[in-house]
Amino acid sequence: MKIGIFDSGVGGLTVAKEIKNLLPNQPIIYFGDTARTPYGTKSRETLITYAREDAAFLLEQGAGLIVIACHSAASTATDALKEGLDVPVFEVVTPSIEQALAKTRTKRIGLIGTRATVASGIYEKKIGVLDSEAKVIGQPCPLLVPLVEEGWLKARETRMIVKKYLRPLKQQKIDTLVLGCTHYPLLKKVIQEKIGKRTEVIDPSLEVARAVKNYLNQNGGIECGGQVKDRYFVSDIGPATQEIVRRFMGRRIELEKV
Ligand code: DGL
Repeated sequence: MKIGIFDSGVGGLTVAKEIKNLLPNQPIIYFGDTARTPYGTKSRETLITYAREDAAFLLEQGAGLIVIACHSAASTATDALKEGLDVPVFEVVTPSIEQALAKTRTKRIGLIGTRATVASGIYEKKIGVLDSEAKVIGQPCPLLVPLVEEGWLKARETRMIVKKYLRPLKQQKIDTLVLGCTHYPLLKKVIQEKIGKRTEVIDPSLEVARAVKNYLNQNGGIECGGQVKDRYFVSDIGPATQEIVRRFMGRRIELEKV
């Protein structure tokens, strides 16, 4: 079964990479909407429209299941997308919530992400259903996406900005922190350092990859061996796209523009 993954751009490659790590023989079809990125600043209505279009493209390409790698889309558009589809839909929010609740001891969970993700309130809503005592403290971090795309992963300025964003979460004494954006796994070390080693950092790219693997295992969908041809589609290739992709994947990959 081909795994279709979509994102607002290249950040979802963090998810594609984890899925490839766990399922090396599974063909993936990636779509990054680089022409319309960022999604993190868009309204719910717009994100629902984009998510439907992105998923429709992946299905046309033969995807048997869909993974919403983009947190902004996953937080706002998952229910609307599922309504119209008859293939399984995985997304980065649900497995991260399960993991956050499994890890927290104090029930004070921090969430960092784009404005769209934090404003969606989806974490509060879903966590509230599962554990009414757990509290979510959200913090939008809009400057982090461009810093990652510029490759300023260890820069002094980045460390200062991360520290400033995390300060209110520290003051709120969170013990678990969800990296609610595709780009943040690249800053995991700095984030862990600034939030402190006693706080558990949850990486949704790993959690969703595990969820997809479990599903395929249970449904006999795991491919073993054979020639695997992954395809990486984007809606635009700008002057820096290849370089940013290399930064995310750690190698050059062939991009197809659609
Ligand atoms: N992929 C987006 C997310 O995870 C980050 C970039 C954007 O705002 O489009 O929310």
